[in-house]
Amino acid sequence: MNRDDFPIFNINKDLIYFDNGATTLKPQKVIDSMTEYYSSYTANAHRGDYDNSVEVDQKYEGVREKIKSFINADKSAEIVFTSGATNSLNMVVFGFMKNYLKDGDEVLITKSEHASNILPWMELANSVGIKVKFIKLDDDYSVTKENLLSAITPKTKVVSLAHITNVIGDIRDLEMIGKICKDKNLLFVVDAAQSIGHIRVDVKKYNIDFLAFSAHKMLGPTGTGVLYGKYELLDKLIPLSYGGGMNSFFESTGEVEYKELPWRLEAGTQNIAGVIGMGKALEYIENIGIENIHRYEVELKEYALKRFKDIPGLTIYNKTTPSGIIVFNVEKIFSQDLALYLNHYKICVRSGNHCAKILKEEIKATNTCRASFYFYNTKEEIDKMANVLENRGNIFDIIL
Ligand code: ALA
Repeated sequence: MNRDDFPIFNINKDLIYFDNGATTLKPQKVIDSMTEYYSSYTANAHRGDYDNSVEVDQKYEGVREKIKSFINADKSAEIVFTSGATNSLNMVVFGFMKNYLKDGDEVLITKSEHASNILPWMELANSVGIKVKFIKLDDDYSVTKENLLSAITPKTKVVSLAHITNVIGDIRDLEMIGKICKDKNLLFVVDAAQSIGHIRVDVKKYNIDFLAFSAHKMLGPTGTGVLYGKYELLDKLIPLSYGGGMNSFFESTGEVEYKELPWRLEAGTQNIAGVIGMGKALEYIENIGIENIHRYEVELKEYALKRFKDIPGLTIYNKTTPSGIIVFNVEKIFSQDLALYLNHYKICVRSGNHCAKILKEEIKATNTCRASFYFYNTKEEIDKMANVLENRGNIFDIIL
């Protein structure tokens, strides 16, 4: 689907890119939109009174509007541009939760979260004394209603989960979880890094209080992302950065007034080209249709499962999860060696622990290989990978 739009395939004719969970490839239109900003109308945002700066302001704020609609937020003031999902989650934890939570309060996560949805909470446990607790995962690694309910205690204040996990690729039932959070008066934080470019995210339908995602996993540039927060919560988030663009005035007396949302949380010159690129990426995804993207990824995964089924020594850890991610190992081969072997055939997968370092307690494997598909991948590419795995012989003859 749409492969011609991706210049990388013209330059690397044989490239088989199955590492979309790490970052996606970029369409020419996204690249062009950023080049155009740099080559024809460069200006800072919110600071100039000349034509180019007005154009920049319109484009920059236009992307905010687009994102607002895409995730079904109420107001564009609820959309803050950040450097990515990690930055967004850190803002939630250290700008909001640090003041909201007290010693002994409990935050529920799972062992399949990415480091960026674990480490900030662990830091808060050290500094504030909150307790980080893990919702028990079901046999297929999903978060069930029963397990969530049994993890909640009178001290629980927050549930913080990935929408799609980055290794197992399970899709959390955000509607069910959001409803429980609402009924029990818990804050609901969602890491949408792996879902935003793949399935519909609806902050109102799922009752999400804070949402984080990155542009680079949805066809956009690196170094750009979004923090969404319900207005009344975001308004209480204390900035972690102070400087230009976020204040209305300050005096030598120390008197200061900060701007309203969202600008209060965007100190300094932002990644303007990145935001413009993210807007173009969103447009691109909307033209294809997010539901079409998801449907095709599931089709690719089902096809891959069929093709990989009879490969000797291959273990797949997440056969049942309905996203475009397959996590696997081949017996007696270290995952990184296997990735190097696949690389020999220009097949890019990720290997290791994938920043989900405590997932090993659930899947009983410390390191795995991960193939993560996107809409520009094809069944022919999967066939090639299956053939390479099937006819592997001694892989060390190739990689050493
Ligand atoms: N978080 C990214 C991944 O899962 C880098 O690969």
